[in-house]
Formats: sequence, structure tokens, C-alpha cells
Amino acid sequence: VAGVPPSLSAKVVGSFAYFTVKDRFPTIVTKVIDTIHRNKNKFFEEYGEDGIQAEKQTISFLSKLRNELQTDKPLLALTDGLQDVESWNQYLQRHQRLEGDQESVSWFKSPWLYVECYMYRRIQEAFWLNPPISGYDPFNEGKTQGFFESQQAVMALCTYLEGVKKCMDELSKNQLLEHFNKLLLVSLWGNKCDLSISAGQENSQKINPLEVLNSLQPFILVDESNMVWSTLISAQKQEQPGKATPCRVDIVLDNAGFELVSDLVLADFLVSSGLACKIHFHGKCMPWFVSDVTANDFQWTIRQTMAANHKWMSKSGVQWQRYVKEGVWCYHDHPFWTQPHEFCDMAAEAPDLYTTLQRADLVLFKGDLNYRKLTGDRAWDHTVSFDTALRGFGPAPLCILRTLKANIQVGLQQGQGEKLSSEDPDWMTRGKYAVIQFYSPLSE
Ligand code: F6P
Ligand code: MG
Repeated sequence: VAGVPPSLSAKVVGSFAYFTVKDRFPTIVTKVIDTIHRNKNKFFEEYGEDGIQAEKQTISFLSKLRNELQTDKPLLALTDGLQDVESWNQYLQRHQRLEGDQESVSWFKSPWLYVECYMYRRIQEAFWLNPPISGYDPFNEGKTQGFFESQQAVMALCTYLEGVKKCMDELSKNQLLEHFNKLLLVSLWGNKCDLSISAGQENSQKINPLEVLNSLQPFILVDESNMVWSTLISAQKQEQPGKATPCRVDIVLDNAGFELVSDLVLADFLVSSGLACKIHFHGKCMPWFVSDVTANDFQWTIRQTMAANHKWMSKSGVQWQRYVKEGVWCYHDHPFWTQPHEFCDMAAEAPDLYTTLQRADLVLFKGDLNYRKLTGDRAWDHTVSFDTALRGFGPAPLCILRTLKANIQVGLQQGQGEKLSSEDPDWMTRGKYAVIQFYSPLSE
């Protein structure tokens, strides 16, 4: 498209995309294979010989996948009959047409965002084609471990939340703003905890997240949190006749484990302070980018929090369960979130989801993958505005809370990117820096 920079791709040798496809993809597929193999006995106990057969076939499918990606084979059409197959295969055909006859759509030549989503979808296909274990989540162990290893941090956060809630009625507006800012930052830095960047090595929060906020402040490159606050405040004042539920906040979730807890704590604060009266969470309908939240992770995390042997943690969990039961909180998954589209295509590709988001007063997007999709995962100049990079996507006022794990960043000051590159060549890919960027269609 004229005027729009090219997609990031592994065809740029030495780029982060190249390194990811070359080294991190095979590592992730290998880990999935190891996990299935380690659980062989479990499959046998549950499904007998059928379980063993399924284990073998899934592993052979995944070994083939690993070989295809390592040798840069063309991407293949999906065959598993899930509801999204047609849309994936049409997407592939569209890319094939764009490439013409000379080049094939392949792992190292095609857009990174596309091939990365495709890899996770192919992993799902391997399970889906082997019915006894089709519902198996190969990333589940890592996700639950990340949660358990973050226990101290979760307890500290829930204790803080309960402290705030206890004196909620006496808080001045400034005090409320202060707590809001803190919990927004905890949720922002919670995005450091993801399993995909470390290829499944590490995703826990070991230290008290509230105590480190000040020392992390210099690493926030863009902070538009004041706009988030004013959006919430002005949504309060509006009596919108056409809207059934004023002050609705949608949270497009990223990772399970500590990050999810930090999002739930923020959501609880928004509801209990009256800043929002309804929260819609959006998660993934299949295991995705190693640690992303599925419906099962969402329910499991609430149940675990409830069952914790810690007064304030279990109290939080009980409250969260109640919110879900009463419909104050609801969880959705839409197949669009596990497709490779840039978000500027959402209105055309998933109009129902776009309409859903339009009903929100604020949409909070979490994490790096959502940032890549918001900005189309393109080689934008760092000084291009966030609005420009969104390319017309804007169902409602929106904010992204993201730690940087991919080499794309827009909305910086002149010279800021160059300065960062000279100080730390990996500044965009190690989760050390973060941004809070905001856009509102209402201000246009
Ligand atoms: O390359 C880093 C990476 O694995 C990307 O593939 C992806 O954008 C990101 O990490 C996942 O991070 P997050 O969980 O924040 O979306
Ligand atoms: Mg993630």
C-alpha cells in the first residue's frame, strides 16, 4: 500500500525477526514436543493405546513443522476443519497472489507477524488432528508455574488492593488518581512476564511490584496515562442514552501468570472505585504465543486466587468470582485474536468484534503482540505518530500498555530513538522499556 512501510520480516538477515524465526521458533516447537513426550504416561492412563498413538502422531506432525520452518518451506494450507480454517487459507492465497509466481509464501520471506501466528496455529492443528488430545494445552505447565512462582508478588498486590478498597469512600480525587496510576503501572510492567520472549524460560514476578515502580519510571518512553484517566472521568459524566452500560472498559488480555493477576487487580480497582461499572475481558480461544490467556487460564487463575492460603489474596479471588457470576466481569474470545491480521483490518475481517469494541468507553490493550497488530508490525519511523500507525483503527478511545519486545516503536520525539540505539542497541527487544500510548477517535 502506498505510503505504508513494509512489514517486518525474517528476510532482513540479522533483524530481530530473522533471529526469531531462525532460533526462537524451533526452540518453541521443540519444547512443545518435549512436553508431549513427558506426558506420555498421562495420555496412556487417560486414553489407553489411543493416547499413545495420538502422542506419537502429534510429535511426528510437529517434527515435520519444525523441519519445514528450518528449511524455509512454503506455508501450507490448514486441514483441521476448525471454524477459522477458511479464513486462514484465504489469507494464504491472498499472500500467494501478492508474491506472484516468482516467490513462495515461506517462513523466512513472508511477514514475521503472519508466520509467527501461523506457527502457533499449526501447533494447534497438530493437536486438533489427534482427537484424544485435541484439547491439550502444551503451554499450561509453564503458565501455572509462572503463577505459582509469583505468589509473593500476588499477595503483596492483593494486600495493597484490599487496603485501597477499605478506605475507598474517604479517598480524595487526587488519592484515587494516585492509586489508579500505580495499578496501571503494575499492569504495564506485568507485561515483562511473558514466556514467548524467553522461549519458555521465565515468566514470573519475584519482587514486590509496587516497590519497584519508581525505579522503573525512567524506562517509560511515552506516558499518556493522563489521557486514560480523563477518558474514564469524562465517561462518568456522560449520560449516554443509546448505551445500556455507561463506563464500560474492555481489556484485551495478553499473558497468564502474574500479568493476568495485575490486570484483574486493575479491573477490580476500576469497578470498586466506580470508575467503571462493567469490564469485558478478551482472551484467546486456543493456546497462543506460549503464555497468552485462554478461557481456562482465566477461570483457573480466579479459582487459585480464591483458594490461596492468604487472607487478602483469597478475598480478592472470591470477589472476582462474584464479579464473573454477576456479569460485572465477562470473558470473551473471538477467533480474530488468533488470526494474523493487523487491527486496521478488524472492521472488515471481524465486523462483529469491531462493533463489540465500539460499545466500550475505553479499550486497554496489553502487551507486545497487541502493539505489533495495532501498528501493523511495520518498519515505521520512530517519529511517526501512534494515530498514523493505527491506520484508521479506533473503535473507541484506546490505550496500549506494552513493554518493548519487538523492533517496532512509534510516537517518539525527534532523536529519541537514535539516542536509545546508541546507548543500548537492543532497547526494543528485551522488555526493558515500556510505553503507555493513547488514541481517541472522539477527539477527531
Ligand atoms: O519477539 C518477541 C515476542 O515473542 C514476539 O513474538 C511477541 O510480539 C512478543 O514476544 C510476545 O510478547 P507479549 O506477550 O507481550 O505479546
Ligand atoms: Mg503474550
